[in-house]
Amino acid sequence: MARRKLRLGLLTGGGDGPGLNAVIRAVVKKGIREHGAEFVGILDGFEGLIQRRWKRLDFDSVSGILHSAGTILGTTNKGDPFSYGKRGDVSDRVVRHLRELRLDALICLGGDGTMKIADRLASRWPNIVGIPKTIDNDVVGTDVTFGFDTAVKVAADAVQVLHATADAHRRVMVVEVMGRTAGWIALHAGIAGGADVILIPEIQGSMGRVAEYIGSRHRTRRFTILVVAEGAAPEGIDRTALHPGIIGTTVADRIEEAGFEARVTILGHLQRSAPPTPADRVLATRFGVAAVDLAVGRKFRRMVALRGGTITSVPFARVAGRVKRVPPDHELVRAARAVGTSFGDEGAPA
Ligand code: F6P
Repeated sequence: MARRKLRLGLLTGGGDGPGLNAVIRAVVKKGIREHGAEFVGILDGFEGLIQRRWKRLDFDSVSGILHSAGTILGTTNKGDPFSYGKRGDVSDRVVRHLRELRLDALICLGGDGTMKIADRLASRWPNIVGIPKTIDNDVVGTDVTFGFDTAVKVAADAVQVLHATADAHRRVMVVEVMGRTAGWIALHAGIAGGADVILIPEIQGSMGRVAEYIGSRHRTRRFTILVVAEGAAPEGIDRTALHPGIIGTTVADRIEEAGFEARVTILGHLQRSAPPTPADRVLATRFGVAAVDLAVGRKFRRMVALRGGTITSVPFARVAGRVKRVPPDHELVRAARAVGTSFGDEGAPA
């Protein structure tokens, strides 16, 4: 009797990020080439499993997508099967659909939220493998996620470019970057772009200190560039302003009130929608290939990861529900301070 073909499912959950398509391509190409597998692409994350929406993926469907941002499968952050709007827990339906699909494994690409759902779902339907994705780089268990390098490039380029107008007008330029709970993008983009002040959620800054720093700096310099992560909460900012798209404007307002002309640039979803950098395409390809190995080796309830330059994997249980934040004494924070960058927690620059 002919052996049944290996059947793998694939979904992308949570916010999108550059490199998702590169992963999908790697998974499907390797699965077909090395294992003769067939693929089912679940549409719009777990919502597709709830609503019975999926499609077959073959070589042609993943051809030409290596360089593109977004996801050919669609995604949503509203598809939690354990808490699905007014309908509440619909996980029974999801498990029924997974059985109907006769999958040997489901590969889930996503951030902390997706890994949490995958972990919970795996207690009822265990054949799940995870691939970490977030531009915020805050998934624990892996040194880095794909999409992060691209987001940093967008933000660092903006910080660099804004120097010219800042200098021309003797202004303070505030650049708001993504990072709801972690300041990795702000930290890397601030260092790479040459920001003078970096405000991140993990280091308690104050607007008074920031004003003091700018005042002292402007005795010898014409401008200041400040990068603020959307999740930062410096003292002197009203709590109602602690929201993406508002925090940057409020920081700029406080700086104007302190007597310095300021302007704000909110990078928002530009950071998620740029074509993946070569480094992200490489990492995405490595993660995709490794995820197929996990699925074929039936090493389920694990997420692929990069640790110390090597591809490995970690159990969902070690990842789910946790966030990787910037340690306030991180070597990069110390490096930034060493070149004179303020985190809003000290006054006059040396
Ligand atoms: O999780 C990544 C992230 O980029 C956050 O930094 C940001 O707050 C969020 O996504 C924005 O998501 P949405 O597309 O739902 O506004």
